[in-house]
Amino acid sequence: MRVLVIGSGAREHALLLALRRDPDVEALAVAPGNAGTAIIADQYDVDITSGDAVVDLARRIGADLVVVGPEVPLVLGVADAVRSAGIACFGPTKDAARIEGSKSFAKDVMAAAGVRTATSEIVDNPANLDAALDRFGPPSGDPSWVVKDDGLAAGKGVVVTADRDTARAHAASLLDSGHPVLLESFLDGPEVSLFCVVDGETVVPLLAAQDFKRVGDGDTGPNTGGMGAYAPLPWLPDEVVTSIVDDVVKPVAAELVKRGSAFSGLLYAGLAITSRGPAVVEFNCRFGDPETQAVLALLDSPLGQLLYAAATGSLADQPPLRWRDEAAVTVVVAAENYPGRPRVGDVITGAEADGVLHAGTARRDDGAIVSSGGRVLSVVGTGADLTAARDAAYSLIKSIRLPGSHFRSDIGLTAAEGRISL
Ligand code: GLY
Repeated sequence: MRVLVIGSGAREHALLLALRRDPDVEALAVAPGNAGTAIIADQYDVDITSGDAVVDLARRIGADLVVVGPEVPLVLGVADAVRSAGIACFGPTKDAARIEGSKSFAKDVMAAAGVRTATSEIVDNPANLDAALDRFGPPSGDPSWVVKDDGLAAGKGVVVTADRDTARAHAASLLDSGHPVLLESFLDGPEVSLFCVVDGETVVPLLAAQDFKRVGDGDTGPNTGGMGAYAPLPWLPDEVVTSIVDDVVKPVAAELVKRGSAFSGLLYAGLAITSRGPAVVEFNCRFGDPETQAVLALLDSPLGQLLYAAATGSLADQPPLRWRDEAAVTVVVAAENYPGRPRVGDVITGAEADGVLHAGTARRDDGAIVSSGGRVLSVVGTGADLTAARDAAYSLIKSIRLPGSHFRSDIGLTAAEGRISL
């Protein structure tokens, strides 16, 4: 099978590495990719937000399967275009991708499916903002305000704060730029990312993972696209995963089928495990980044066959997934100033080692690898347990040089020390 992966992040690098381990995958291509993916796949520079451009490329290289990594092309309907051209595609239709692309659509689906989530309110008129803020946040008993962009914002549209002025300023700036705002009640409890391969009503969960969204150690500083992740979660009982699949993901998948927007691809449930049980923070319509880098490092089953089965409606016939009985940790190396406007163009050394996945990197004409984005690398370590996996990741990071870069030193630490309990 010839597989074309769409995207340019460390998630796509991880997908390519896992696809390469599948004996049925004979050729790999990526568009647009980065300096790391260029080493393991044929690389093409196309506009991945254009369905026509992706279809042209898929035809030109004879792709049997197109795997769309990021949410933006999915929300724009690139998977629809690929399917209409008669090529198998892993990724939901534009219609189903609204589960991520529109938070109000997701809330509506969850309400109809009877799934627990934060209470919320959309504000699209600045005149209503103050009264709405008064209905959320500390005065109503929540420890914080949760202010989100209603549309796509790469994780950076979210502000969680106990300071009303900060909440108001963020909401006002979103409204000023024409974006409706979603105010939510705060969900307390450890967060879980559960990725499920979905084909209509068939749901196959992968290993549960946890990511770290704040930029600084101890969950301090602004939100980012994700600074690290680990899998599996030693503190999460199997029956909670079963209940997330049965009581959250399956009902949502069934509701999407009922609405004529059946989901085919990766349905990512982001949840908080509250004292009253799992509650949904958000759904995404694609593999999460950086959790994918940790989860796929432990997958023993052939990924190409799994994604092809979902794309062609035969997921229910797949054998159970096999996993390495180990732990994996990924730590993101970010450019100076990220999540603000990152400094780019710096030479990186040590980035070609096994376990170093690339995101914002490019190859200069003189052969040097340089930074080209905020999240630059995702360093993956595996080991018998979380402590060993952390040691492997942080020891690999020591061999990398990128001026001004920063990373969190506490990815997976509280779990490794047994300090997360439900
Ligand atoms: N891990 C956060 C995201 O992929 O959106």
